[in-house]
Amino acid sequence: MTIQKTGKIWHNGKFIDWDEAQVHVASHVISYGSAVFEGIRCYQTTQGPAIFRLREHLQRLLNSAHIYRMEFSYSLDALCSVAVELVRVNKMGACYVKPIILRGYGEAGVNPFPCPVELYMACWEWGSYLGPEATEKGVDVCVSSWTRIAPNTLPPLAKSAANYMNSQLIRMEAMLNGYVEGIALDANGYVSEGSGENIFVVHNGVVLTPPLASCVLPGITRDTVMTLCRDLNIPIAEQTIPREMLYIADEVFLTGTAAEITPLRSIDKIKIAGGIPGPITRRLQEEFYALVKGTKPDRHHWLTPVGVPVSASVR
Ligand SMILES: Cc1ncc(COP(=O)(O)O)c(C=O)c1O
Repeated sequence: MTIQKTGKIWHNGKFIDWDEAQVHVASHVISYGSAVFEGIRCYQTTQGPAIFRLREHLQRLLNSAHIYRMEFSYSLDALCSVAVELVRVNKMGACYVKPIILRGYGEAGVNPFPCPVELYMACWEWGSYLGPEATEKGVDVCVSSWTRIAPNTLPPLAKSAANYMNSQLIRMEAMLNGYVEGIALDANGYVSEGSGENIFVVHNGVVLTPPLASCVLPGITRDTVMTLCRDLNIPIAEQTIPREMLYIADEVFLTGTAAEITPLRSIDKIKIAGGIPGPITRRLQEEFYALVKGTKPDRHHWLTPVGVPVSASVR
């Protein structure tokens, strides 16, 4: 997916042109991975574009920055307004919003404190993440030989750029071996998550997902799916998941802002539920898309309308 340039990017309080949003090669972030970020989807709803769970994403961004002692003066409310304005200024419909907080150009060396904290927010169009038919037909994945970052190494609850070096190893290995995605185990050998998604397993009618202690990112889509399960009276629990439970599960699916709800067709070449998406996965997908596209009432107040009329926002 090549990034499609949009008009404006927000930087430290003002909108600048896309091509102006540049970082010096000697910036702290380049050598030391010192950035935290978010990936947020804006959906084209029946009432015009609306950003999905904006507040929760930006709260996670603030939490990530707090963990890494990155200080800046923008409040949660201010950042929410910036995101809405950004989509509006760029006249976007459905798109991906990416705020990033990074350590910029200052002094050399690992110590980040002398380097300025910079905030950027960009948006661009984005389609499906794991392939055009992924959410419909499911994908083939493997268990990675790479372990998910252990809790006393890099904090898994922070969405930091550095964590994605681990994700890249998982994803590259999977793709080079002919799989779409890799599932990492945690440092204790239990199921953790995909390189860019949380994982859910359906076993005897109960939906299970690894707890935060299995080193997962506290996914916003993970929370969405857990909430939808409760709404739909589908039993749901956070539970440590042994690897082999993946193979004998009735259904397995991945969740993420990018991947949405993607069923798994096979894991390590073992077919899951005959290789077709199962009924609980389907039911959750149905409810999810109805809510994000506005065809069902937004009962949880998850959508932030951008305020662009429907006709003007169709791209
Ligand atoms: C490692 C990892 N786990 C889980 C997720 C899913 O999180 P969310 O649903 O908030 O996008 C992501 C996506 O950002 C991710 O990168």
